[in-house]
Amino acid sequence: MDEERRFELIRATPDDHLAEFAHDVREGLTASPKHLPCRYFYDREGSLLFEAICALPEYYLTRAERAILEAHAGEILARGFGERVSDPITLVELGSGSATKTRLLIAALLRRQGALLYVPVDISREMLEESARGLVRDYPGLRVRAIAGDYADGLEHLTSLRGRKLILWLGSNIGNLERAEAIAFLRRVRERMSEADAMLIGIDLRKDRAVVERAYNDARGVTARFNANLLARINRELGGHFDLAAFRHHALYNEAEGRIEMYLVSVRAQRVRIERLDLEVSFAAGERIHTENSYKYSPEEITAVARAAGLRLLGHWRDPDALFSVNLFGRAP
Ligand code: AVI
Repeated sequence: MDEERRFELIRATPDDHLAEFAHDVREGLTASPKHLPCRYFYDREGSLLFEAICALPEYYLTRAERAILEAHAGEILARGFGERVSDPITLVELGSGSATKTRLLIAALLRRQGALLYVPVDISREMLEESARGLVRDYPGLRVRAIAGDYADGLEHLTSLRGRKLILWLGSNIGNLERAEAIAFLRRVRERMSEADAMLIGIDLRKDRAVVERAYNDARGVTARFNANLLARINRELGGHFDLAAFRHHALYNEAEGRIEMYLVSVRAQRVRIERLDLEVSFAAGERIHTENSYKYSPEEITAVARAAGLRLLGHWRDPDALFSVNLFGRAP
């Protein structure tokens, strides 16, 4: 089958997110303390900056997860679905991004069953389309049904898939949800899983403060630009007048909570006008906008989350330096 016929794009969320973005920016910047939702990092510019973060020497997460998948892809599939091929597995991925690491699992599944349906879900439509087209070009046995939308759109689609499924949630995307939200989300996934399905989740581990803080304060300042892109996006889409040089990036590890906290700090007292919101926001010198939490988990916390979500841990793999983990879950009875 030619490449065009093996690729399908479903736009679950309309391209015009502007009303929701405007609402969330108004709410976050008029609250005390000020905050902005981290999902707005990922416009075209932000997705490219995130790809650059993944290639940084300090950002160990991507490299460690890749090392685990390289070493254990076949074993992970055998643990989830047995050694023998019976009915084919469909691969679903929540927050697929560039899907670079996913290639390791796609290749392993194609070796097992010859043909594969891959259903990536991502809010960045351009990144999704680009990566999906690359995949159908590189793997002749692959069909891709790409869903441009958020996790909720992905969940909705899950119920319409027949046969066994492997659901991927890689890159420690779980870390950007509050711990209780992560459990609630996994419960919703579980409700849509059959006994025969499995879910594979990449989770960053709690570790030494210095290692984590370095990963979010890289020497080249890529994470700082990624963070500041939120303000640049408000300027582009909502007619904001943020002077990016008047805010600095700040990331620190809150050890008690086991999370990185990211902020944009106003370097001076200032007022910023946002035309489309007809709003002027005042900042005191040193005032912060909270832009992201990135939770890290201990092995005990991973088991506890699984139990609370009605999942059972089928396998847990770590990289040789024990920085990162890949965890396979099935439905608990
Ligand atoms: C996408 N997410 C898992 C990244 C993280 O590490 O929390 C986003 C990120 N923020 C700063 N650097 C990378």
